[in-house]
Amino acid sequence: MKDNAPILITGGAGFIGCHVVKHFVNKFPDYNIINLDALTYAGNLENLSEIENHPNYQFIKGDINDVDFIDELFNTHRFEGVIHLAAESHVDRSITDPLAFVRTNVLGTLNLLNAFKRIWDDDFSNKLFYHISTDEVYGTLGKTGLFTEQTSYKPNSPYSASKASSDHFVRAYGETYNMPFVISNCSNNYGPNQFPEKLIPLFINNIIHKKPLPVYGDGNYTRDWLYVIDHAGAIDLIFHEGKDGETYNIGGLNEWKNIDLVKLLCQQMDDKLGRERGESEKLITFVKDRPGHDLRYAIDASKINKELGWKPSVTFEQGLKLTIDWYLGNREWLDHVTSGDYQNYYQKQYS
Ligand code: NAD
Ligand code: DAU
Repeated sequence: MKDNAPILITGGAGFIGCHVVKHFVNKFPDYNIINLDALTYAGNLENLSEIENHPNYQFIKGDINDVDFIDELFNTHRFEGVIHLAAESHVDRSITDPLAFVRTNVLGTLNLLNAFKRIWDDDFSNKLFYHISTDEVYGTLGKTGLFTEQTSYKPNSPYSASKASSDHFVRAYGETYNMPFVISNCSNNYGPNQFPEKLIPLFINNIIHKKPLPVYGDGNYTRDWLYVIDHAGAIDLIFHEGKDGETYNIGGLNEWKNIDLVKLLCQQMDDKLGRERGESEKLITFVKDRPGHDLRYAIDASKINKELGWKPSVTFEQGLKLTIDWYLGNREWLDHVTSGDYQNYYQKQYS
């Protein structure tokens, strides 16, 4: 991308998006970064307070489902690069309201693709549409094996089906209209600023407040965890050095059964909170399983490693400590998020 290139990052007030926005704003002062986010329950501008007055950064509140608004936005800014993270992202919510996931994840993505195509159809040179996706599109693994970029798509939840569909549309626009694109499919992220409905921040918050820790089923489900800052670094690398039309898997090389992860988290939290070891484990409660619960995800990240030289920079033990320290050091953030107060920030800051 050339200096002063206008770059659109969607979903930049969410968990991963805020780290991507901060990474790009700090590292690339010559880019013009526009963060577009609808500020759903998952979007929190408090995540971005440290860069909100930066000269190469602008926040715009808006919905990727609003066709006229998106067209107008692209006409005005003529984005040369798009890094698309905006999505409904929580599997459990997709089970109760699948349509919301189709709207944002499928139709919203199509709106962005159409607007991008309309602007650059005559000449796509040096333009890029980067779609951020998930390993869940591949479905579930058995006890062995890894997801590679060649693994067939077999999504099992409405969330993963909507993400799979959006991946297919991005690839189809590349094939049909020669639109330059890259896609990355990443494993479970953890770290600062994650909304406490996902496993790690939910359990940290519950341990603080001595509330039950609801482990689904028998807890023998496996996920491959990646520290969110490492995901942001991978996105930078793929955006700048990824090959047009390629998919990259990103993973932590770090598989944990939920129950083992929760026990480790309990131990570390007990140590940090000055509680006796074993106290938080007593909060573990086995509850009804998630319908269609995928048994195991694990990523083969050798392509991004060999082709772009990427690998995770922190171990899980380091990353989990950093994460716990962040939540314990940012109790106000956690309180705002759990009380809903963070939703007033936009009014206060931008009215
Ligand atoms: P998140 O739910 O924390 O954030 C999503 C953001 O998108 C929020 O700020 C929300 O306000 C915004 N948004 C939602 N609907 C919108 C709309 N219609 N218009 C504009 N903005 C809208 O999600 P996350 O965990 O940060 O995930 C970001 C992306 O990364 C998603 O595409 C997700 O599928 C993908 N991903 C997530 C993980 C993970 O472990 N969290 C792993 C791999 C891939
Ligand atoms: O793999 C990438 C995906 O990881 C992303 O695409 C999704 O956006 C992200 O939400 C995440 O999906 P998961 O469903 O794996 O994450 P979640 O934190 O919801 O759950 C992790 C595991 O913990 C899963 O096996 C379900 C289990 N779980 C989760 C919650 C919230 C519990 O046992 N209890 C819980 O209360």
